[in-house]
Amino acid sequence: MTVAARRLGLLPPYLFVEIDRQKRGLRDAGADLVDLGIGDPDLPTFPEVVESLREACLDPKTHRYPSQRGDASLRDLFARWYQERYGVELDPAREVLTLIGTKEGLGHLPLAVLDPGRLALVPDPGYPVYQAASWLAGGEVKHVRLEPELGFKPDFDGLPRASMDDAQLMFLNYPNNPTGAPADADLFQLAVNMAEEHDFVVVNDAAYAEVLFEGERLSILQAEGARKVAIEFHSLSKTFNMTGWRVGFAVGNADVLDALADVKSNMDSGVFTAVQRAAEEALHLPQSRIDEQLEIYRRRRDVLVQGLRDAGWNVPSPHATFYVWSRVPTGEDSSVFAARLLNEAHVVVTPGAGFGPSGEGYVRMALTASEDRIAEAVARIARIL
Ligand SMILES: Cc1ncc(COP(=O)(O)O)c(C=O)c1O
Repeated sequence: MTVAARRLGLLPPYLFVEIDRQKRGLRDAGADLVDLGIGDPDLPTFPEVVESLREACLDPKTHRYPSQRGDASLRDLFARWYQERYGVELDPAREVLTLIGTKEGLGHLPLAVLDPGRLALVPDPGYPVYQAASWLAGGEVKHVRLEPELGFKPDFDGLPRASMDDAQLMFLNYPNNPTGAPADADLFQLAVNMAEEHDFVVVNDAAYAEVLFEGERLSILQAEGARKVAIEFHSLSKTFNMTGWRVGFAVGNADVLDALADVKSNMDSGVFTAVQRAAEEALHLPQSRIDEQLEIYRRRRDVLVQGLRDAGWNVPSPHATFYVWSRVPTGEDSSVFAARLLNEAHVVVTPGAGFGPSGEGYVRMALTASEDRIAEAVARIARIL
């Protein structure tokens, strides 16, 4: 008996599942691994947020089904948080939708706006969920290469007109995983203009909006006309070390958000109310707390980048996100090099090929280990280069 639907066969094994399997094998054998693989902050959630969850859990009002679009108080607060950062006014009733993390929103969005057989434009390299979610909705995927010479921005000029006409959805992700490229106002404007001309929805996944070392904080909704065609996803996961809590937001075009909310109302029942209250506490934290954390990532970045450069591997220093994305220095395939780092240096990195065809020849290193451990990783890598 075949138990899985045919479309599941389209999906490559989820990148981290395979890496996890190899890691488990080595750890079971007693290896001391330095894990720069997955982008899951090692720092704990801010204690005020944990305390607020504890209190909220004791209130029986939080024990029932949550409100579907998210509590009004949380959506109001997010609209205010967003306005302070980007100078864009949002109507919390229609232009803010609470998500169970951005991954959930990304996973469900194609079901809301992509018809079977129609095209989703997906960045390459890119977070694997964009293409997987598009395929699962029965859509087709057209990779849009992020050009290293353009600072890992897409070259829209190279995109065939027919693809743009056939597209119903385009994914962008700035600040960018895996390349560390920051957002760019001109790119956002260009994408919005294209979406208007060719009648598709554009979504910017801004999960790393707050992990920004240099440059301006930008939102796609600042682009002229954006509200007609664009939405943006934000997450508390990376900003507040809350990856396990599952809370994020979609903002922007009200009709797209209504469609996404319709899909979600058939799939999930919202974010646990106690987690929503804790999210409010997080959004009330002073900016200085986020800045302190950013300094930690900046120091880690500098230890990794300088250390590897001293060892002869000329890695670039990212302006945003907690990822260092670099060409494989030895000319090996990315998975061969990553496997060698894992087996010979006991350092976990992610092979670029897992992010799409254009990721081949690169590896990604996440700054989600302490400075000491990163220094240890550098020393081990230096020995096998
Ligand atoms: C680009 C990107 N978007 C979304 C996510 C998922 O974030 P969340 O925890 O909000 O679902 C990740 C997680 O690594 C990511 O890298």
